[in-house]
Amino acid sequence: MRHLKDSLNKTQKEIDKTIKLLLPNGKGLEKKLFEAIHYSILSSGKRLRPFLLVQSAKLFDVDEKQALRVASSIEMIHAYSLIHDDLPSMDNDSLRRGLPTTHKKYNEATAILAGDSLLTLSFEILSNNLTHSDPKIRCDLIYELAKAAGAYGMVAGQMMDLEAENKKLSIGVITRIQRLKTGALIAFSCNAGAILGRAEKKDKFALQGYAHDIGLAYQIRDDLLDVTSTTKKLGKKVNKDKKAGKKNFVSILGKDRAKKQLEFLGNQAIKHLEIFDNKADLLREVARFIVEREQ
Ligand code: IPE
Ligand code: IPE
Ligand code: MG
Ligand code: MG
Ligand code: MG
Repeated sequence: MRHLKDSLNKTQKEIDKTIKLLLPNGKGLEKKLFEAIHYSILSSGKRLRPFLLVQSAKLFDVDEKQALRVASSIEMIHAYSLIHDDLPSMDNDSLRRGLPTTHKKYNEATAILAGDSLLTLSFEILSNNLTHSDPKIRCDLIYELAKAAGAYGMVAGQMMDLEAENKKLSIGVITRIQRLKTGALIAFSCNAGAILGRAEKKDKFALQGYAHDIGLAYQIRDDLLDVTSTTKKLGKKVNKDKKAGKKNFVSILGKDRAKKQLEFLGNQAIKHLEIFDNKADLLREVARFIVEREQ
């Protein structure tokens, strides 16, 4: 895991540098918008999705600068999703990454607009020819991200997550919610590496299988940490899912069975990587990290 931690730290620094370059300071009346954007996205997140992209792109020898631009655009979507997820009309949270949530620090309107800006900026970056000289690749990235983030992906999952509160639902429906709200963007992070690298179909499929499993595992771990961890460790409030009547693997199956499912998914994810050589070692380690992470 030491190797993984060092690599994660390195990506974290590179991504933050790229994001800063892509996000200038605001002037005039819109100054507060840029402050809120910087405040939200540059706080201490794990940058897991950018890391997945950078590592997936490495499998196909993609130029690192291009990978970092796409990775930044993914982190922007992620940051927007968190700002909106925390709003009073959504999960109504006051703490994120150890800091007051964006609407608490600024106000609701600014938080909504900061989220909107990050969402649109993300696509602007993908459409720029510095991201890739081939317009077909840029279009493929835009198309896949739009599907993963929008009403067929993350946003659908968020809607279902809210609708599911205090309802009795099957594990099949719960699985679909988790796969959409969290899995879709994680899957895109891996898929984008394959798109940038013009990967062969068999490699793309293997990576998709891996991403599918870690995406679900990631949310199960998040739901487990909500009941087992502390606010100090996580930098966000705990025991909030039960209070809100959220439906997830932990609330339906209980901690032990949810943990077993999480371990099963982690092992299965690693099996999908068999066709890759040791270039995929860090992706293997990420799967273990997702199963065991404490933050
Ligand atoms: C939190 O995501 C929301 C989920 C989808 C589980 P992360 O746990 O990746 O949050 P940061 O980016 O590290 O803060
Ligand atoms: C969030 O899931 C998923 C998103 C798409 C943002 P949660 O609502 O469980 O995430 P946290 O616990 O607030 O980070
Ligand atoms: Mg939520
Ligand atoms: Mg939430
Ligand atoms: Mg959660």
